[in-house]
Amino acid sequence: MKKKKVLITGDSMGIGLALAKRMLSGGYLVIGTCRSGHIEHVKHENFLAISLDVANVKSIKKAYQEISYRFDQIDIIINNAGICPDLHQEIPVMTFFDETFEVNVKGVVLFTETFLDKIAEKGSIIMISSKMGSIDKSVNSDSVGYRMSKSALNMYTKILVNRFLDSIKVAAVHPGYVKTQISETALINGRLTPEQSAENIFSFLESDYKSGSFWDSGAGTKLPW
Ligand SMILES: NC(=O)c1ccc[n+]([C@@H]2O[C@H](COP(=O)([O-])OP(=O)(O)OC[C@H]3O[C@@H](n4cnc5c(N)ncnc54)[C@H](OP(=O)(O)O)[C@@H]3O)[C@@H](O)[C@H]2O)c1
Repeated sequence: MKKKKVLITGDSMGIGLALAKRMLSGGYLVIGTCRSGHIEHVKHENFLAISLDVANVKSIKKAYQEISYRFDQIDIIINNAGICPDLHQEIPVMTFFDETFEVNVKGVVLFTETFLDKIAEKGSIIMISSKMGSIDKSVNSDSVGYRMSKSALNMYTKILVNRFLDSIKVAAVHPGYVKTQISETALINGRLTPEQSAENIFSFLESDYKSGSFWDSGAGTKLPW
């Protein structure tokens, strides 16, 4: 049987790396990306590492050419790459704000739009979003750029849901509070290891989830947008 192909952005560390490994052990062919294109921690015959900076149009085009050369179609795209330079800051700093939107919003949109024609019929797109982007749940005033970037990502998720109705499943996933290098506080206080988070995301992917879901994979519950 042909292996399902999954393209995951941001696999050099953290959740993306753990997810790439989990998808490989689950029988998928994985195309992993990061800016350098070197993903030393994964050695597997079904793994291909590609250089990709989602904040750079030329890099997205180059990655598209490289992937198209090898594969006709991709079954799942997981937009995982993300940054949060303004975590816990109350006052928005424009350089951090711009950086965050370049990667978490513009990068995801440009990357996804470029790869849309590679997605197989009945394929899926997963956005690794955050509970911090939920407008309904919002009670804090910190991390302005990060929170807003994830709310914007959620809106793009909904837009794609409406655009593709039954042909492509699109969902946003909160990975839980995970011990990664995305921030010092996550590394210290995160409640899940990247491997636990990846296991939860994998279970969601393998489930019969509905297009248009915003899913808290740590809690195993729906999130309000
Ligand atoms: N950790 C948490 O508690 C938590 C909670 C909620 C949501 N999330 C979300 O989960 C996702 C993964 O986060 P993480 O905690 O695993 O972070 P991480 O450990 O910092 O990993 C981030 C990944 O994104 C890649 N990346 C960063 N900038 C990029 C760019 N411009 N182009 C391409 N790739 C880029 C990094 O690769 P290189 O730097 O090597 O290029 C790295 O592989 C993010 O979207 C984050 O917002 C995390």
